[in-house]
Amino acid sequence: MNIIGIIASERKEGNTAFIVNKMLEGAREQGAQTQSFRFSDLNIKPCRGCWACHKSDQGCVIKDDMQKIYDAMEYTDVIILGLPIYMGQMSAQGKIFTDRLFARFSPRFSPYFKENAVKKQMVLSFNQGNPNADLFQPYIDYTNQMFRTLEFNVKEVPVVTDLRNGSIHDREDLCRELKHLGSSLASI
Ligand SMILES: Cc1cc2nc3c(=O)[nH]c(=O)nc-3n(C[C@H](O)[C@H](O)[C@H](O)COP(=O)(O)O)c2cc1C
Repeated sequence: MNIIGIIASERKEGNTAFIVNKMLEGAREQGAQTQSFRFSDLNIKPCRGCWACHKSDQGCVIKDDMQKIYDAMEYTDVIILGLPIYMGQMSAQGKIFTDRLFARFSPRFSPYFKENAVKKQMVLSFNQGNPNADLFQPYIDYTNQMFRTLEFNVKEVPVVTDLRNGSIHDREDLCRELKHLGSSLASI
């Protein structure tokens, strides 16, 4: 079982990194092979909208660190996408990642990518400062549906709330829940 975590935040040791890493830790304890990608360590540019990826089978013409994620996504069984809520939506890093999927995981857009239409399992992991778990639910449901349309098999959509005050490190129940979720992924 291979699981990759994508941390769509510039904060190296921030909440998104903590949440994704806890899930990966739980998965490793069950024998999964894991790898994580932090936006803070990567140079990933926004989609140029050139459509070159849909005009041939060359893939994305932007040769940056997204190529590492494309490669990892080919072999992985599960993708954990860690998305902080910024201004009521996924972070800009999360949106850059999502737009760059256009080149590889959008079989309905182009015949060239039919062979990539392998249904990948996905965990869409949101986190937010606000304590109200319902606040962004319509946006989260919409995002879930969007990833399903892109042929991802979204398994779980955990939403960690109330991250304005105190350190996430002190939330022992949350750590246990995240590790438990991670370990359950190892047996999907
Ligand atoms: C620019 C910015 C915008 C934010 N907007 C929201 C928001 O609209 N609603 C909310 O509940 N939290 C908001 N937050 C809080 C973050 O969602 C929260 O602190 C999150 O855990 C940050 O993750 P990180 O440490 O990985 O960056 C915002 C934080 C930042 C920096």
